[in-house]
Amino acid sequence: MKGIILHGGSGTRLRPLTYTDVKQLLPLAGKPVSEYALNALIELGIKDINIVLGDIGAEEVKSYYGKGDKWGINISYTFQGKPAGIAQAVGLTREFVKDDDFIVVLGDNYFHSGFFQLLKDFRKEEMDAYVALTKVPDPEKYGIAEIQDGRIVRMVEKPKEPKSNLAVTGVYFLRKSIFPIIDSLKPSWRGELEITDAFQKMIEAGMKVGYSIITGWWKDTGTPGEFLRCNMMALERIPVKETKLNDQSVYWRAQIEDEVSIDRDSKIVGPCFIGSGSVIENSYIGPYTSIGKNCRIKDSHIENSVIMDTVSTDLNFSSIIRESLVGPSSEIRSLRNNEKFLRIIIGRDSKIEV
Ligand code: DAU
Repeated sequence: MKGIILHGGSGTRLRPLTYTDVKQLLPLAGKPVSEYALNALIELGIKDINIVLGDIGAEEVKSYYGKGDKWGINISYTFQGKPAGIAQAVGLTREFVKDDDFIVVLGDNYFHSGFFQLLKDFRKEEMDAYVALTKVPDPEKYGIAEIQDGRIVRMVEKPKEPKSNLAVTGVYFLRKSIFPIIDSLKPSWRGELEITDAFQKMIEAGMKVGYSIITGWWKDTGTPGEFLRCNMMALERIPVKETKLNDQSVYWRAQIEDEVSIDRDSKIVGPCFIGSGSVIENSYIGPYTSIGKNCRIKDSHIENSVIMDTVSTDLNFSSIIRESLVGPSSEIRSLRNNEKFLRIIIGRDSKIEV
């Protein structure tokens, strides 16, 4: 069994963060989104993983994952360049796959559980393809599967008038039998070779496309709101433990890395993550907040937010930062002492003065 992580695409819905940063490397509780997919594959005992790179930040991805030594696995790379579709990306990996079965995971999807049961079902039923479906409130945003008598009868990508609310999540269990199907695909209305079209063709050709319906451990990180929800899910996985800081407080579900300095006037309320080298001064870091490495947080109240590496905030408590994504190396500084609510989604090196 081999694993493939798709790391291309453009991430338009997370701009401006994705103008400069690779969307799958954006951090959830201090770890890139795609590392959760990598861990799910490693949990299955997969040792050979290929990462498909896009035209944004390919070198950053390679420098983060390297050859996989840090995880004790072999990581290789395939270059896709411009995003021409998930199926096109999968088609590029056939040299890597050879005759093995393989699992494809979308690198911007958050998974916090193992894929054991799905793999068992894929193998037991000798499927050509096996997908995980989940109920969603907004099916027009996803690939949708229609089920009749316990079988998938149709798959449609982002249907305008969805006939079901079962979305195809971003993990696909596959065999090499998919490659000739991908070769026969035509680009969709959005100019991409769609993976859902490949599954539809397999169904029409009488090949076995199976499914499970899953709940609770999958989410797309595509939009700022979804990204924050994934951050919550990742933080909730931090084990409950007692953490004493400066001999004063006990906090739950708080992961505080080495060389973090938190003064006695600060309050940290879990679930939260604080990356190494960060300095927290006279601040309140509220629940569901991830603070990156080497940040400087002063006189600030932050809740339900992702603050990326080397950000500095100095707010004189004039406003609360809430439901915000703050890109690396940004600076947020207060000029006046007034009460305001801020909701900020900004990219790398931004600067806001309020
Ligand atoms: O999140 C689940 C949905 O993901 C599925 O329900 C859809 O069937 C599937 O098409 C996909 O829809 P999205 O519109 O959300 O896909 P997106 O363009 O965001 O790409 C998903 C991941 O695949 C992301 O990590 C980028 C990567 N990708 C995408 C394309 C189009 C590539 O590596 N290369 C590509 O050419």
